[in-house]
Amino acid sequence: MTGFDKWLRCRYLSWLLETDEDIMTQDEMKQAVARAAVEYAKNGIIGVGTGSTANYFIDALAEVKGRIDGAVASSEATATRLKNHGIQVLDLNNVGELEIYVDGADEITEHFAMIKGGGGALTREKIVAAASKQFICIADESKLVGVLGKFPLPVEVIPMARSYVARELAKLGGQPRLREGFITDNGNLILDVHGLSIVDPVSLETAINHIAGVVTNGLFARRGADVLLLGTPAGVKTYKK
Ligand code: A5P
Repeated sequence: MTGFDKWLRCRYLSWLLETDEDIMTQDEMKQAVARAAVEYAKNGIIGVGTGSTANYFIDALAEVKGRIDGAVASSEATATRLKNHGIQVLDLNNVGELEIYVDGADEITEHFAMIKGGGGALTREKIVAAASKQFICIADESKLVGVLGKFPLPVEVIPMARSYVARELAKLGGQPRLREGFITDNGNLILDVHGLSIVDPVSLETAINHIAGVVTNGLFARRGADVLLLGTPAGVKTYKK
């Protein structure tokens, strides 16, 4: 084989590798971060989030379920999936602090502030995250943003306060839209707030939560993630606070 042939073969092999990277789908990246997160589930009771990435985590967790004592679910859907895999689901009121909370995000910044609640489970997600020592966010690279707000911010609202809260949210610069035909696990409504550019997520999270009738909003900035496992075509990248 001549030097040129060797060079050509080398180029061909690296082209094949690059092509493999290019065709990695969003779902494959979600599966990769879900599998990486299982390494953090070493023992005790863990908190489990909601959504498609969290579902992949549950499926991967099932393979090592003997390692943990059970899980606290952030939604009815997650509880059902955990139980279907034979993982014991515990009431948060009957357990102490959780070792870890693993969940996806709709958007996350390099400072680990997030928008969550695309699936409508934001309130229970925020509760379980608050009760956990470490929040491990699992997301594909499309979720990493410079500024939060392109994804409409979900706000869970007590039904009788819907119109009042919508007017207050408009005063904050957003365009709230009722999520049609959707009731949360807590029996409430979701207003999705469009058109926000959230440069100070901690302040906005606090301001929205002070509106009477708001249960909570999907900004997770006061208690953001501690670890981000980001799925990229080149593999899982780990970022820690
Ligand atoms: C559920 O209410 C959400 O907070 C999800 O965690 C978030 O929307 C991420 O979902 P995916 O993993 O499906 O993108």
